[in-house]
Amino acid sequence: MSTWYLLTVLASYCCHGVLTCPDLCICYFSTNTTQVVCTSSSFSRFPEIGLPSNTTSLSIEFTNMSSISAQQLQATPLLQELHLSGNKLHELPANLLSGLPHLHTLDLTGNQLQQLPPGVFNDAPLLNLVLRDNKLSTADAHWLPPNSSLTWLDLASNRLKVLPTALLHNLPQLKMLHLNNNQLEKIPAAALHTVTHLERLHLEENKLSSLDASSFQHTPNLTHVFLQENRLEKLPSGIFLGLPHLDFLNLSQNRLRTLPPGLLDKLPALGTSVGQGLDLSLNPWDCDKGVAYLWMWLRSHKDKTFLDEIQCATPEALKGRVLSSLTEEEWGTSSRN
Ligand SMILES: *[C@@H]1O[C@H](CO)[C@@H](O)[C@H](O)[C@H]1NC(C)=O
Ligand SMILES: *[C@@H]1O[C@H](CO)[C@@H](O)[C@H](O)[C@H]1NC(C)=O
Ligand SMILES: *[C@@H]1O[C@H](CO)[C@@H](O)[C@H](O)[C@H]1NC(C)=O
Ligand SMILES: *[C@@H]1O[C@H](CO)[C@@H](O)[C@H](O)[C@H]1NC(C)=O
Ligand SMILES: *[C@@H]1O[C@H](CO)[C@@H](O)[C@H](O)[C@H]1NC(C)=O
Ligand SMILES: *[C@@H]1O[C@H](CO)[C@@H](O)[C@H](O)[C@H]1NC(C)=O
Repeated sequence: MSTWYLLTVLASYCCHGVLTCPDLCICYFSTNTTQVVCTSSSFSRFPEIGLPSNTTSLSIEFTNMSSISAQQLQATPLLQELHLSGNKLHELPANLLSGLPHLHTLDLTGNQLQQLPPGVFNDAPLLNLVLRDNKLSTADAHWLPPNSSLTWLDLASNRLKVLPTALLHNLPQLKMLHLNNNQLEKIPAAALHTVTHLERLHLEENKLSSLDASSFQHTPNLTHVFLQENRLEKLPSGIFLGLPHLDFLNLSQNRLRTLPPGLLDKLPALGTSVGQGLDLSLNPWDCDKGVAYLWMWLRSHKDKTFLDEIQCATPEALKGRVLSSLTEEEWGTSSRN
């Protein structure tokens, strides 16, 4: 009798997910959260057996898992965070999140995703979506519902050739957007006009050769703009007007030879936080008379920029010189050399 009793008790513990934990995973139980972490490389499929039903955070990372289904996830309806980076996922079912009404964070970094079905993220109230380091060549408007509450979207290190304007239209709450390390050649004029709460914009390591003057006109809360390692040759003079909170701007490693007068005026927040400011390094600056605006700006804002690497590429006589160390006479007369 007592053996049967014990077995019954054990069975009820085992099979109702009370303080169980899947093989090869580690589980952390606290008052409000149950976290399950599976990072063994010999792991190859979803941990269906032993997964606590009240799991709030599930991490299956750097494993051999190559598929995941809505049915598997329906076992954990309280899930708030799902971390799936570094697996072998190459596709997702359209209903993946259908049983997860509390999911706010989904991280799919470093999988093999090439395209995703319409509606794939519609069912959960996502705030954070990370798709970095996959093989996506387009980002579709129908991935997310209209008026999504997403605040952070990371599409860095994919194969995007076009900025996903239609998708951004669905994301009025967006604050952080990572599109760095793609193959973007331009930003369509009104592309960012609907993401009015945007604060951080990562566009570095693309192929941008020009920007529209109105690009940032409807994003007054931008604090950080990353444009380094592109092919920018010139900037429209009013492009940064109306960015009173801009603290960090990186234009390093572009093809800028000159800046239009007035470009950096009216940026009261630039460099106000430690380690922030303006990076203009590694551009082929032309230090003839046209450099007057930049030279004077650098003199009065020494503390806001990273001066040493702002060097002249032309004229020949000034090649390699640090612009801020030149005298007015040197650049003012150089074109006559
Ligand atoms: C648990 O949740 C309650 C109610 O939401 C909250 O007041 C409390 O601070 C939480 N405790 C912990 C440890 O997070
Ligand atoms: C989850 O279930 C376990 C076992 O019953 C319990 O100890 C824990 O407090 C529960 N956690 C949450 C977040 O409800
Ligand atoms: C991962 O999966 C592949 C194919 O599914 C298999 O060939 C390989 O042995 C697996 N690796 C590990 C470490 O289990
Ligand atoms: C969008 O969602 C917000 C709350 O997240 C709500 O206040 C607003 O009315 C919604 N707008 C539309 C057009 O549905
Ligand atoms: C900008 O930020 C301030 C302070 O956080 C906020 O009050 C304001 O509504 C924001 N404006 C936009 C357009 O997001
Ligand atoms: C700006 O970008 C360049 C190129 O990626 C990088 O080397 C540099 O550290 C960045 N500047 C700052 C201040 O972070």
